[in-house]
Amino acid sequence: MKKYTSIFFAIAFVFAAPFVVQADEDDHTPLEEEMDAMNKSWRHVRRALRDPAKFADAAKKVETMIVHAEKSIEMEPILLAEQEGAEAKKKFMEGYQKGMRYTVKMLKELQAAFEAGDAEKATELVSKLNDARKKGHQKYKPEDED
Ligand code: HEM
Repeated sequence: MKKYTSIFFAIAFVFAAPFVVQADEDDHTPLEEEMDAMNKSWRHVRRALRDPAKFADAAKKVETMIVHAEKSIEMEPILLAEQEGAEAKKKFMEGYQKGMRYTVKMLKELQAAFEAGDAEKATELVSKLNDARKKGHQKYKPEDED
C-alpha cells in the first residue's frame, strides 16, 4: 500500500510541476513587466538594422520601448530592498534612474535615426544601448536572471 502511495505522489508531482513553474513565471514585478515589454520590441529593432525596408517599423517599435523605459524610471528594482541604509538606497536609485534616463535619451535618438534612414547612426546607437543594458543589468538586476 505504502508503495502505491509513493507512486501516486510521484505521478501527481510530474503532472503538477509544470503548473508550479508557470505560477513562478507569472509572478513578475511591475518593473520586470516593463523590461519584458521593452525586450520584445528590442529583438525586432536589432534585426531591422540589416534591412532598411524595416526602418519605419523599427522606429515605431522604438517608440514603444520609450513608453516602457519612461515608466521604468520611477519604478523600484528588487535589489533596492537589499541596500542598507537611507544613503545607500538613495545612491542606488539615483544610479538606476540615471541609467534609465540615458536609455530613454538614446532611444529617442535611435527613433530619429530610423526615421531619417540613417543605418550607420542607428547601428552605433543600438550598440550604445546594448552596453547600457548590460551595465544596468550588472549593477541593478539580480544575478540569477538575464
Ligand atoms: C534595451 C534596454 C533594455 C532591455 C531590452 C532590458 C530587458 C530586460 C529584461 C528582459 C529583464 C528581465 C525581466 C524579467 O525577469 O521578466 C530586465 C530586468 C531588469 N532590468 Fe533591464 N533592460 C534594458 C535596460 C536596462 C537598464 C538600462 C537598466 C538599469 C539602468 C535595467 C535594469 C533592470 C532591472 C533592475 C531589472 C530587474 C527587474 C526588477 O528589479 O524588478 N535594464 N531587463
